[in-house]
Amino acid sequence: MEITFRLNGETIQVNGTASQMLLDWLREDRGLTGTKEGCNEGDCGACTVLLSDAEHGTRAINACLVPLPQLQGKAVRTVEGLSGPDGALHPVQQAMIEHHGSQCGFCTPGITVALAAAHMTGRKDHDDQLAGNLCRCTGYTPIVRAAEAAAALPVPDWMNEPDDFFCSEISSGGLATGERGADSPPATVPSASDAAVFLPRSSDQLAAWYLEHSGARLFAGGTDLGLQVTKGLRDLGQVAFLHGCADLQTIDIGPEEIRLGAGVTISRMLEAMRAPHPVLADFLTRFASVQIRNMATIGGNIANGSPIGDSPPALIALGAILHLRRGDDRRSLPLESFFLEYGRQDRRPGEFVEAVSFPAQAPGLACYKISKRFDQDISAVCGCFNLTIEAGTVASARIAFGGMAGIPARASAVEAALTGKPWTDETVAAALPAFAQDFTPLSDMRGSAGYRLLAAQNLLRRYFAETSGAVTNVREVHP
Ligand SMILES: Cc1cc2nc3c(=O)[nH]c(=O)nc-3n(C[C@H](O)[C@H](O)[C@H](O)COP(=O)(O)OP(=O)(O)OC[C@H]3O[C@@H](n4cnc5c(N)ncnc54)[C@H](O)[C@@H]3O)c2cc1C
Ligand code: FES
Ligand code: FES
Repeated sequence: MEITFRLNGETIQVNGTASQMLLDWLREDRGLTGTKEGCNEGDCGACTVLLSDAEHGTRAINACLVPLPQLQGKAVRTVEGLSGPDGALHPVQQAMIEHHGSQCGFCTPGITVALAAAHMTGRKDHDDQLAGNLCRCTGYTPIVRAAEAAAALPVPDWMNEPDDFFCSEISSGGLATGERGADSPPATVPSASDAAVFLPRSSDQLAAWYLEHSGARLFAGGTDLGLQVTKGLRDLGQVAFLHGCADLQTIDIGPEEIRLGAGVTISRMLEAMRAPHPVLADFLTRFASVQIRNMATIGGNIANGSPIGDSPPALIALGAILHLRRGDDRRSLPLESFFLEYGRQDRRPGEFVEAVSFPAQAPGLACYKISKRFDQDISAVCGCFNLTIEAGTVASARIAFGGMAGIPARASAVEAALTGKPWTDETVAAALPAFAQDFTPLSDMRGSAGYRLLAAQNLLRRYFAETSGAVTNVREVHP
């Protein structure tokens, strides 16, 4: 089967395999070498391209982590597609010239595309929009000046993809062969290794197929799995791409409960959390970069079982429930029970994450991420606190950490040491030794065991200080 998508305004049909990344295909098969390869693992942004579809509009992504089947029915625009048909420069390109936003120029195509995405969506939080783009010689001040100058100018007409291309049936992962709708058959694509690429259009199709192919890989955003191709040089074998399952991408915000489908990207989750859980939304701005958040899903962040994934501690502190599906069987469990030990989760063959749900209100929630860099870095320690204080006493406590054990885990002994006690400095001090009962952290390149334990204790102190009215700012530098 051929993958159909638009590339710089032209409709393309190509045989796609699960191990063929867009970046390599652009450079090697299409000769579009403006898109650069820096790290090949989502860190540097040199490979940034625009991805558009009917459901989610236009966003920046890393071409190095996107296999061709992910593009079915979507539109891609590379740096070569930013200028107009008559050669007129995009406002961002013009501004980058006028504000001297480039020196050696290696990062410039990726930065220009990232800025074009922000320009198109009207984002003016330039620091955040550029957090996934590494420039080692110009410095960001001229680049941000260029972004500010371009923001005042309209989006050029040529940047808009034709509406008729984005018929939702195609962009929902289906075929370009006239078959339409969530009930029409999914696609099975022979790949180079004779394995199959499966493009389900609904979680029903996925459930039925996965029951029969439980050894296959589920590819959601690919921001973990893609690295097995680009860095591990592995063939993924049989792969089901989940991006076409629209029913896994729903966000339901009710008065009592929020439910996120497993396929909701971190970007969409972040925006959806701004009103009900602003603390969580703010915390998610520290999750990787805009490009990664635009691909990475909440289901992938949970299912990968990483001890340093950012969303599990926050969701565990919120009291989240995980919803799993195997064929037509469904079951739900507290999220913390899903993580059994390092590399092992409570998931049966053929079972997948369908959704996660959690309370719509948690005024006591605080999430803290400690990492070596503020932007685009993995947590060394991630601590999330959700305490209810009634009449000066701790009525309930849910505290969860990442980076402190082989799995994301609750700090049960600390919770017990706080619950029922007056919410005072003395209670906090008395609870600090309980961290050593809950956790025996490892030493690695992100932090020593001693550092992690101390950092976790200090986060409880910070939580107490903040709930007592202290204003903290991790970006402040004190002599
Ligand atoms: C540069 C970079 C920076 C990163 N920074 C962060 C960060 O700051 N914080 C953080 O937490 N993570 C970070 N990550 C890791 C990654 O982005 C997240 O873990 C992400 O949420 C994974 O989601 P995905 O959809 O891309 O998963 P995928 O790569 O598609 O899948 C990951 C695993 O989950 C499985 N899976 C996916 N969906 C399902 C499902 N519905 N049911 C069952 N199994 C499923 C896959 O089979 C695979 O084993 C970073 C990654 C990169 C490359
Ligand atoms: S090459 Fe560095 S992010 Fe893709
Ligand atoms: S201009 Fe040289 S890396 Fe940015």
